[in-house]
Amino acid sequence: MRVIIDTDPGIDDSVALALAVRSPEIDIAAITTTYGNAPVADTTRNAREVLARLGAEARIPVYPGADRPLLRSLEVALDTHGVHGIGYVAPTLPHDELLTVDAPQVILRLAAASQQPLTLVALGPLTNLALALALDRPLLREQVAEIVLMGGEPNGYGNITPVSEFNIWCDPEAAEMVLHSGIPIRMVGLNVTRRMVCPSAAVAALAQDSRPELKWWGDMLRFYEEFHRRREGLAGCILNDPLAIALAFAPELGTAAPMHVDVMRDDGLTRGQTVCDRHGFLDEPPNARVYLDVHSADVLHMINTRVWEGAVSADALLHGMST
Ligand code: BDR
Ligand code: CA
Repeated sequence: MRVIIDTDPGIDDSVALALAVRSPEIDIAAITTTYGNAPVADTTRNAREVLARLGAEARIPVYPGADRPLLRSLEVALDTHGVHGIGYVAPTLPHDELLTVDAPQVILRLAAASQQPLTLVALGPLTNLALALALDRPLLREQVAEIVLMGGEPNGYGNITPVSEFNIWCDPEAAEMVLHSGIPIRMVGLNVTRRMVCPSAAVAALAQDSRPELKWWGDMLRFYEEFHRRREGLAGCILNDPLAIALAFAPELGTAAPMHVDVMRDDGLTRGQTVCDRHGFLDEPPNARVYLDVHSADVLHMINTRVWEGAVSADALLHGMST
């Protein structure tokens, strides 16, 4: 399948990009970046940093995108992802403060030129996708087979407010536009990503590995693990975005149900809440398939095999898993 990955690396985004690069099921047409976990100059540099680590920088282009939400002010999550957005890893590439935002145009150009319908995998705030839709929705409806997005939560258990998930909260107006675009959507929300706990023992194993390419992941994840320990009392860190990559090419790794999904666009605690009409109260047609269950152990195993070269023992990987 041919995909564009829209992302804000970000620690879990970095793992997701690596999983995508190492997955033969996926042909990555481009990576587009957005603000989110860090400012867009940093997330763009970080996407390139990950590709360079994997030796894929010449083959996969990276295009910078939105530097702020459509209507809201910019807020980033450096407490979660570190001052550069990649934990304790020190970036080696410079970052360009004067980026030209061309992600929305690139999405349209690639969609128009593609011989087969594209899949868009969105791992950050949905601003780039909303801008592309505003420019040419008919083209995207024609040429995009599906949008797989990491975001939202159907049960009202958030991570940025008590009920809202970060990606949707950043730009609720963009999320509403995407959800009502008429393009088939699969929503990979916090309800399922919270099962993707990479246990502390696995992070420690990577951080202590003598191979620099594996220690690099350990240094990134160590920061994320400390954040989760502090914030949620978790002995591990949640790998949200890699789950969306895995489900994009292997939908059978989870179970999803069709629902009508709306986004709260107020300014209070419910800003960015995804209201998922599980029981059809609204009598509205479904606009997304929402994941309710996933085989998280299989996905973690896949990440360990494909990204971490099997460096984490099965015991360390499963210890502390919630399912
Ligand atoms: C999402 O927000 C970010 O912190 C992660 O990268 C993920 O995409 C989880 O709410
Ligand atoms: Ca992300």
